[in-house]
Amino acid sequence: MVNHPMPEPKKWTARGISALKGEEKIAAITCYDYAAARFVDAAGIPLILVGDSLGMTVLGHKNTLAVTVDNMIHHTAAVVRGTERALVVGDMPFMSYQPGIDLTLVNAGRFLKEAGADAIKVEGGADRAELVAAVVGSGIPVMGHVGLTPQSIKDLGGFKVQGRSPEEAETLVNDAKALEQAGVFAIVLEAIPAGLARRITDSVAVPTIGIGAGPDCDGQILVINDLLGTYDAFTPKFVKQYAQLGEEMKRAFGEYIQDVQDGSFPGPEHCYE
Ligand code: KIV
Repeated sequence: MVNHPMPEPKKWTARGISALKGEEKIAAITCYDYAAARFVDAAGIPLILVGDSLGMTVLGHKNTLAVTVDNMIHHTAAVVRGTERALVVGDMPFMSYQPGIDLTLVNAGRFLKEAGADAIKVEGGADRAELVAAVVGSGIPVMGHVGLTPQSIKDLGGFKVQGRSPEEAETLVNDAKALEQAGVFAIVLEAIPAGLARRITDSVAVPTIGIGAGPDCDGQILVINDLLGTYDAFTPKFVKQYAQLGEEMKRAFGEYIQDVQDGSFPGPEHCYE
């Protein structure tokens, strides 16, 4: 169990996460199902993102573009059922908010009403500020996401580090400030140089949660399959594997095949009288 400097809240809120800036680093993770959510929650991780990365890690797509609101609601509801204390953030998928504010409000509302999520996340910077303000104004906490925004890969030309030129860096700092003004409770910084992430972190009063953005963000987030070693289609440079569960699964399946074939499973202890 993680020891938090403040009395541990019964259930994390978006405001509680915001208040961690400058107090303690935030360890966040993605999660997509009930069984894993129970372990994540029991470990004391305060923020779970049900990311649209599930399109790749769970559904086997090459990118996140095919993910639907129904996919997200289905998985977010499962994570909520497995969670008692972590804040659960549902990721708004491609084309669930880009067409306009009215559709955004309907879809954001579905995450809270149908899935029981605590907050939503949208990708984009200053261009999303009005939309974010409308969602926050309707009582739904919003997490921002700037830098590499995977829903724009067709425009960005692939999964590429962002903010390397002075102009791009300036735009990203202004994007983060615009999101803060619009009322987000935290901002994901994805795949940007560490120095720029530090500059953005120092420029806003809400926590920055980095993924491929260096050590000076207010928190870090990893995709659960990357952390556990269960997604081998692609491993970005910024990933640290804390376990090799994919290898462990292969070993267990091999042992099971062996046991079935040689008749040692099921044994007497697995049989009814
Ligand atoms: O979908 C996702 O998993 C994300 C994280 C990479 C932040 O957006």
